[in-house]
Amino acid sequence: MTGELSPIDKAKFVAAKRAAALVEDGMRVGLGTGSTAAWLVRCLGEMVCDEGLKITAVPTSTRTAELAREVGIHVTSLDEAKWLDLTIDGADEFDTDLNLIKGGGGALLQEKIVATASDQMVVIADAGKEVEHLGAFPLPIEVIPFGWQTSQALIEETLVSMDVLGRSATLRMNGDAPFVTDEGNHILDLHLNRIGNARQLALVVNQIPGVVENGLFIDICDTVIIGHGDGNVEVRDINEGTVEREKLDFVESDNLFSDLSE
Ligand code: A5P
Repeated sequence: MTGELSPIDKAKFVAAKRAAALVEDGMRVGLGTGSTAAWLVRCLGEMVCDEGLKITAVPTSTRTAELAREVGIHVTSLDEAKWLDLTIDGADEFDTDLNLIKGGGGALLQEKIVATASDQMVVIADAGKEVEHLGAFPLPIEVIPFGWQTSQALIEETLVSMDVLGRSATLRMNGDAPFVTDEGNHILDLHLNRIGNARQLALVVNQIPGVVENGLFIDICDTVIIGHGDGNVEVRDINEGTVEREKLDFVESDNLFSDLSE
């Protein structure tokens, strides 16, 4: 029930609900990963079941695929769908140019592939995700397990010549064991504090052997929908240079608000 939601969850929900309104019958839609994207999946599930919305949905993680199936959305692979009209996903940070840090949930590789294979990427976020400079959130780097410590050392060495304030990398853990991504890789979180040149960093890090992908999304996101706990949403379109504001109502719905597992 919305009455039991925290302001941050309300903010995530209204951003997701506004984004769901962009989805039209027949669209091929990429479904992001994380707690905000989970709200989107629930909203779309409701539209599929109650309004007969027909979409081809491509999830960006096994978690999202499971949730989508649970709420009645038929999912397919990116290779089946080939190209997508729209991908809607959360983010860990976004700046004024709508460059992003993603991968806090460990799904950055599929997220980047799916977003890049889309005509449009829409990010849904609460206002706390907006930053002047990327980098306060640790930057996730997906590395293959073989020689990951060598990859870590190479990354830290490379960071010496980069415009960043911090240079340590830590292996993401899942309890006592290293975190394993859907592709069987590990994640190194880079504690950079402030990234001066995100475009350069994204290119340089991906040249290091062992690195599969980094969590910087540069020039990929087209629109950000920022949700607030009072129901206000702001839609910023970087291509059109437009900003729209509106207020959404919270509508009680048992289906939508019960046992969200994210
Ligand atoms: C998943 O790998 C991430 O990229 C998420 O999109 C990001 O961490 C945002 O997650 P929340 O919506 O849970 O904040």
